[in-house]
Amino acid sequence: MCGIVGYVGAKEKKEILLDGLKELEYRGYDSAGIAVIEGNNLNSFKAVGKLENLVQKAKDFKADSFGVSIGHTRWATHGKPNELNAHPHLGKNSYVVHNGIIENYQELKKELIAKGVNFLSQTDTEVIVHLFEQNALDKEPFDAFKSTIDRLDGAYATLLITQGAPDTLFFAKNGSPMLIGFDGEDIYFASSDTAIIGKAKEVYYLEDGEYGYAKDGKVELFDANGKKSFTTKPLSSDKVSAQKDGYRFFMEKEIYEQTTVIADTMMGRVLESEIVLDELDSDFFDGINAIKICACGTSYHSALAASYLFERLAKVRCDVEIASEFRYKKPLLSDDTLFVTISQSGETADTLEALKMAKRAGLKSLSICNVDNSSIVRESDVALLTRAGIEKGVASTKAFATQTMLLWILALYVAQERQSISKDLIANEIDAMRHSPKVLKVTDELHAKMHRLSKRYLHGHGFFFIGRDIFFPLALEGALKLKEISYLHAEGYPAGEMKHGPIALADSNLFTVALMPKSLLYDKIKSNVEELSARDATILAISPLAFDLADDFVQTKYASHPMLEFFEMMVVTQLLALEISVRLGNDVDMPRNLAKSVTVE
Ligand code: M6R
Repeated sequence: MCGIVGYVGAKEKKEILLDGLKELEYRGYDSAGIAVIEGNNLNSFKAVGKLENLVQKAKDFKADSFGVSIGHTRWATHGKPNELNAHPHLGKNSYVVHNGIIENYQELKKELIAKGVNFLSQTDTEVIVHLFEQNALDKEPFDAFKSTIDRLDGAYATLLITQGAPDTLFFAKNGSPMLIGFDGEDIYFASSDTAIIGKAKEVYYLEDGEYGYAKDGKVELFDANGKKSFTTKPLSSDKVSAQKDGYRFFMEKEIYEQTTVIADTMMGRVLESEIVLDELDSDFFDGINAIKICACGTSYHSALAASYLFERLAKVRCDVEIASEFRYKKPLLSDDTLFVTISQSGETADTLEALKMAKRAGLKSLSICNVDNSSIVRESDVALLTRAGIEKGVASTKAFATQTMLLWILALYVAQERQSISKDLIANEIDAMRHSPKVLKVTDELHAKMHRLSKRYLHGHGFFFIGRDIFFPLALEGALKLKEISYLHAEGYPAGEMKHGPIALADSNLFTVALMPKSLLYDKIKSNVEELSARDATILAISPLAFDLADDFVQTKYASHPMLEFFEMMVVTQLLALEISVRLGNDVDMPRNLAKSVTVE
């Protein structure tokens, strides 16, 4: 949610900032902007919409003498996505960029207005720059900055530059991610290391409560205890950037990639006759009697699917909570519970905060994450990486597949360590795991079929995706995918619950996508679908078994294990959402109102 970059040095600044912002555009694409101070020259550019608009606007601008510079890509929280609300925000002669939410901005704004300050935007961020300039009336710039951040409540990663100190960039972090990159005298700031890979050689990941300034090729760092020293880590120079490789959209490519990335998830972990998780000490599960999983969005859906597996295979009680709900319910936590977080980005604010709460309560923590060195990985006792590779599509696909696979592996690992199921059953699970890559392969035939089918599903008054057991979370995920990129209303529902209310909606304009696996509760779901069909609902059945009452039918092939059916049906629902979105002419990879990484609560 919002990406920020900064650079202090003598190199050409516009390209450094735009390059960095390009890597961070997944964090928001409502608007983008840059500001540069070189001695007496102060320049800024802002544009609404995607970064390309800013690139065009600033195309004749060059900034290649020594100076300080900041940039921002926005996901709107306060105020519409227009140019006035775009960052950097200007005071009289200072600029600020910010990622997070200043919770007390209204109180600060009132105070500043009473002092005659004029606000141009509706954002919470603008208070930072005005408060700084007020403080700077009778304080040195750094003291003014410190007094400013002392007044801020909420989450922030912020960068500020001012003509009052044209060789200095001020920074502060609390709750939102930020890191500092170093290459000799050149100093870089960014929300994520992808923005500075290939530029900085060393990196320092800021902790909450840290602030300071960069000047003369050095960084001075402070926290609540005053000035502090810090150690940097080497930053890999391999810029792994994702390309579409001939696919129309990143999401499409990522659906096709699932067959290979899932094999990466399993590599070295799923052996011929055992599960090995090198990341876990042999006594890691000692004393653990329950598992609690917290996550958001798609990651929450993989958590829900995993809860069935932990109880069924590992025989460990498992409950799952949406991180934003967990945070404020004053949960009762006991230290025999393993706290698991799941996150593609590793930066989701609610999930990260839930993890911090659990740690404060003394729980052991484990994260399932796709981004090494992310905040959630660094905060957890142990992290298992999903190895999905960069996921660019805002609608998550391969991250979901790899998370679910890794959770399945983890559940089986616990089963193996605790001998909670027989050796034969373990062997059966391993055998199914090893078949998974094949199941995830997208065939031309299937894709063509989903393309054809999508034509029938562009209208109607809504979609229900229904399933039972692990296919209920898959139904939730199928509905979420469709909502995100088609903007059509869709709900995931446990099939057995339809008769307790939602069936009232049934008519021929109600589209029901029924997940009907052969290997798990087939007769039960069949009855539920029949009930809907009897009320004229239009049924798209996905099943290995022919189903007469379906208006449309996608026949799946792998019926030997519920998880294989799960993965195959997952691909079908992903392709359905993709093709509907394409027909509707939507932006598949960057759907409206969304961002890839949600770093505000
Ligand atoms: O990075 P995370 O896995 O923590 O993100 C959680 C959700 O924001 C994310 O899954 C979101 O729901 C996706 N857009 C789903 O496609």
